[in-house]
Amino acid sequence: MAKVKVGVNGYGTIGKRVATAVRMQDDMEVIGVTKTRPNFETLMAIEKGFDVYVPDASVEAFQKAGVKYAGTIKDLYRKVDIMVDCTPGSFGAQYKTEYAEAGVKGIFQGGEEHGLTGISFNSTANYSESWGAQFSRVVSCNTTGLLRTLFLIDKEYKIKNAYVTIVRRAADPGDSKNGPINGLEPSVKLPTHHGPDVQSIMPWLNINTMAVKASTTLMHMHTVVAELSRETTTEEVLEIFRKAPRVRLVRSKDGIKTTADIMEMARDIGRDRSDMYEIVVWEDGVKVVGNKLYYYQGVHQESDVVPENVDCIRSMCKLAEKASDSVRKTNDAMHIPNKG
Ligand SMILES: NC(=O)c1ccc[n+]([C@@H]2O[C@H](COP(=O)([O-])OP(=O)(O)OC[C@H]3O[C@@H](n4cnc5c(N)ncnc54)[C@H](OP(=O)(O)O)[C@@H]3O)[C@@H](O)[C@H]2O)c1
Repeated sequence: MAKVKVGVNGYGTIGKRVATAVRMQDDMEVIGVTKTRPNFETLMAIEKGFDVYVPDASVEAFQKAGVKYAGTIKDLYRKVDIMVDCTPGSFGAQYKTEYAEAGVKGIFQGGEEHGLTGISFNSTANYSESWGAQFSRVVSCNTTGLLRTLFLIDKEYKIKNAYVTIVRRAADPGDSKNGPINGLEPSVKLPTHHGPDVQSIMPWLNINTMAVKASTTLMHMHTVVAELSRETTTEEVLEIFRKAPRVRLVRSKDGIKTTADIMEMARDIGRDRSDMYEIVVWEDGVKVVGNKLYYYQGVHQESDVVPENVDCIRSMCKLAEKASDSVRKTNDAMHIPNKG
């Protein structure tokens, strides 16, 4: 079968990872990536063998800098089946119109509103809802993290209420513009957008979220309290997490005490860009008391959504009917352990 032809619009934190992940699959290929600026990331993309396309407005800058490009973004549309849009949030509406006019499919990221596409995507929770769709949206890094664990807990125990506090990284490691560099900043608009974003996929879930921005770049951390419809045990919940796709259990008593230790672990594993695609749950921090479940989870914001984008391409382009088949295939290619 012919490979699905993929264009990646925006080669930043998420886009460069999606391009690499798509390249690792045997049923899809990267035709090109886009950049607006001829900076070092453009040169790195070219060095990695990606064809770089540019918006019309950037042609002059590329010509002036003497950086070779393969064509304009409109040339790219003519060569692909699907665009994965990894531009900064708020460009979505403009690009959706362009993709529609060009007759190509489009995947957007969590920086866009659910209303842009009307369908949001998570491999664990609703793979089939994007089946054959022209547009879908892979939810944000935090929402992906919450869905990976809460969906399975809800399936087993029916959550009455979930209360989540998100300790957010202030900026990505390569970002020197954002902060705070020293301080903790509460998100005062409550509840934060994270709960409603989870509800774009699990509309029935009562979830309440708060968030605090912290002076770290490595990962987000969630503290979760879920009130379940029946009593259970810590061991039963751990068994669910042990079998959960793209969830990794770690133990504080093994020395994994902080998000810095998790990033060191990712480097030791030898993943591309030292990424931790799995949601990391502290096994010795999971506790059930009666019908209340408490746990902590770490989210590597730069990478957890990356395998989800690959699965979303498979669902939209009808490459694998069952979520579990796509997840297994993506995981194998990206060296993420499969379970069961
Ligand atoms: N970073 C995260 O932690 C994270 C996690 C999950 C989801 N997301 C979501 O993923 C999306 C991308 O975020 P990101 O962090 O990857 O952003 P980013 O690192 O700032 O990268 C954005 C990319 O888009 C390009 N771009 C800017 N304006 C453009 C335009 N008008 N047309 C085409 N390309 C343009 C930039 O290229 P130039 O540099 O050449 O201008 C850059 O390569 C957002 O929706 C975000 O909310 C981010």
